[in-house]
Amino acid sequence: MTIKPPFPRPCGKISLVPSVLSADFSRLESCLKKIEASADWVQVDIMDGHFVPNLSFGPDFARAVAGSTCLGVDAHLMVERPGKFIDAFAAAGARLITVHAEAEDSLFCLKRIHSMGLAAGVALRPKTPFKRVASFLEAADLVLIMTVEPGFGGQRFISAMLNKIAAARRAINASGRKIWLQVDGGINSCTAKLAVKAGADSLVMGSAVFGARNPAGFLRGLRLKLNVGDLPCKKRF
Ligand code: DX5
Repeated sequence: MTIKPPFPRPCGKISLVPSVLSADFSRLESCLKKIEASADWVQVDIMDGHFVPNLSFGPDFARAVAGSTCLGVDAHLMVERPGKFIDAFAAAGARLITVHAEAEDSLFCLKRIHSMGLAAGVALRPKTPFKRVASFLEAADLVLIMTVEPGFGGQRFISAMLNKIAAARRAINASGRKIWLQVDGGINSCTAKLAVKAGADSLVMGSAVFGARNPAGFLRGLRLKLNVGDLPCKKRF
């Protein structure tokens, strides 16, 4: 098991986070190896078929991803009762665990994730206003603004979320805390620029990366397009 670097903190650059939801699962390890040098960390979308209509992966899949790459694993729990699963995904090697504000006991879950020495994220569905999590910032390392209805990859970016991204950026800056502002859903080379301009500094992409002929080339090109150099953030606290 390779020793993973500590989870990176916001470093003034943009983190690019491929979502394995759109990868070819029959060639998972080679898909991950191809993007390792160009990505900052990788996201595993966990869906329970209740909180979202889709059913995806469990802790064993997250463990397989963590064992197939030197990248940190970000587990996005789109589940009604995240408290039931946090320990299992932590044991599977997730270094960042994101729970939804709309799920059961979300603030307690953030504190539990931190108590295990992991990075904690809170996510918002498109229809949930940012103010729902304004009081969570003290307990969060990352805020995830969903720019599609959670549940499936390959959907269109909801541009109405740009105002929510900007509101979240203002609140994070005012908090004085180093908190990633991540967006997820319909992010490609065009919508990435819009999201970054609105204040996002972490971009989750599934179909844009794994649907590209050259996924690593797409990531390098996007970094240059966003004027943030062509290498990932230094892996550091
Ligand atoms: C939705 C998933 C997707 C995925 C990214 O629940 O969270 O947003 O990560 O998929 P794309 O980049 O294809 O929209």
